[in-house]
Amino acid sequence: MTFRDLAEARFSLRNYDSRPVEQEKIDCLLECVRLAPSAVNFQPCVFYVVTDQVLLAQLQDCYNRDWFKTAPMCIVACGNHQQAWHRKLDGKDHTDIDVAIAVDHLTLAAVDMGLGSCWICNFDAQKCAQVLDLPEGVEPIAMVAIGYAATDEKPLKKRKSHDELFVYKK
Ligand SMILES: Cc1cc2nc3c(=O)[nH]c(=O)nc-3n(C[C@H](O)[C@H](O)[C@H](O)COP(=O)(O)O)c2cc1C
Repeated sequence: MTFRDLAEARFSLRNYDSRPVEQEKIDCLLECVRLAPSAVNFQPCVFYVVTDQVLLAQLQDCYNRDWFKTAPMCIVACGNHQQAWHRKLDGKDHTDIDVAIAVDHLTLAAVDMGLGSCWICNFDAQKCAQVLDLPEGVEPIAMVAIGYAATDEKPLKKRKSHDELFVYKK
């Protein structure tokens, strides 16, 4: 697949097959995450890879949706704000940007391996931090459901038009 194929094929999968994701695929996903760039290469991210069914059920309580209960695994992308680059001029914290880039690598790599995924940010972050026993200063920023699709349904992408999105300054 070309990069464009991957970008077109990725969508938020909200209906998973119970089939577990093979360890080799998980390893490859994690390597793609590891290679993501970050501001000043500070790499303020840490990822919790959850396949344990008891922990998964507890994570599902942090985002109580029937579809999420079908996911065979979840990666919780966390950031450490103290480790992140803060822009000198105004102190802007780049943690969320760094985590988002890594999660984008993850979701695109998943498509490349025949897997689906879905970002989840609308979760109870405090509860999630307790479930994972996160150290002080580590914030769960996104949960990412990952697995095989239960059906071959592919939703249409709704996006802004080119004119709405791009401003040329020639
Ligand atoms: C930062 C971010 C947070 C998101 N949080 C959620 C979420 O909490 N629950 C959910 O079902 N989808 C969530 N999504 C998925 C978006 O709804 C989805 O990406 C968007 O509607 C575009 O659809 P597509 O991913 O299928 O192309 C999130 C996506 C992003 C990028």
